[in-house]
Amino acid sequence: MVRCLEGEIRTMTTAILDRLEAGEPVDFVEEVAVPLPIHVIASILGVPPSDAADFRRWSDAMFDTMLPPDDPRFGEAFAQILELWQYCYARLEERRQHPRDDFLTGLLEAEIDGERLNDATMVFFCLSILAAGNETTRGCSGWRPGPRRAARSGRRSSRGPEADPGAVEEMLRWVTPIPNFCRTATRDTVIRDEPIAAGDYIVMWYASANRDETCGTGPTTST
Ligand code: HEM
Repeated sequence: MVRCLEGEIRTMTTAILDRLEAGEPVDFVEEVAVPLPIHVIASILGVPPSDAADFRRWSDAMFDTMLPPDDPRFGEAFAQILELWQYCYARLEERRQHPRDDFLTGLLEAEIDGERLNDATMVFFCLSILAAGNETTRGCSGWRPGPRRAARSGRRSSRGPEADPGAVEEMLRWVTPIPNFCRTATRDTVIRDEPIAAGDYIVMWYASANRDETCGTGPTTST
């Protein structure tokens, strides 16, 4: 499925880059890192690019729901999520009436153990795609390298992106767009002398693993 999107993503990327003035300073985050993921997700959801104008606001609102409840943005975020919920539900309804060969129709036709997904699960799935796909790729591609890294990639960019095939991996390692995730232990175990009991709720710090020389290969370069 992702490979099928490649041509369209290349076309969108080229169109976004073509809007930039050669030789002029550019706010890369606003001009490239923000619009590109939003347009890709609009394409995955099969909605018109004009709808994507609301995607950034909705995606940010999803993350604002993780703020402390006394933060003024917290309540506002839920109002926006309701709007997003209604938007996704309406798009699913459209596909129910007029199925297509696309992602939303796939959700409507999917079965788990012989049962269709309920409406809330399908809407939540759309919400997850919007937030999970937007915040991560925006943060990663908007990465601002430190001076030494910038100098290195500047040298390499004159030879084209193929010259640095590890660049994407290195951006993922350095930025770590998702700093942590949690798991519930299914059985008693020990990790680095630390006992973990079945049922314990564990935080996995990807940001730490991506920098810790005792874990995996550690930093990939000396820069
Ligand atoms: C730099 C880009 C990305 C990073 C670093 C990233 C990272 C992650 C991580 C760490 C998880 C949790 C996996 C786990 O449970 O262990 C996750 C889950 C998920 N991501 Fe991403 N992601 C990225 C891009 C995307 C994109 C572009 C989409 C969709 C368009 C997406 C959709 C999802 C979804 C739906 C899940 C939940 C999967 C599940 O629970 O079954 N992600 N992602």
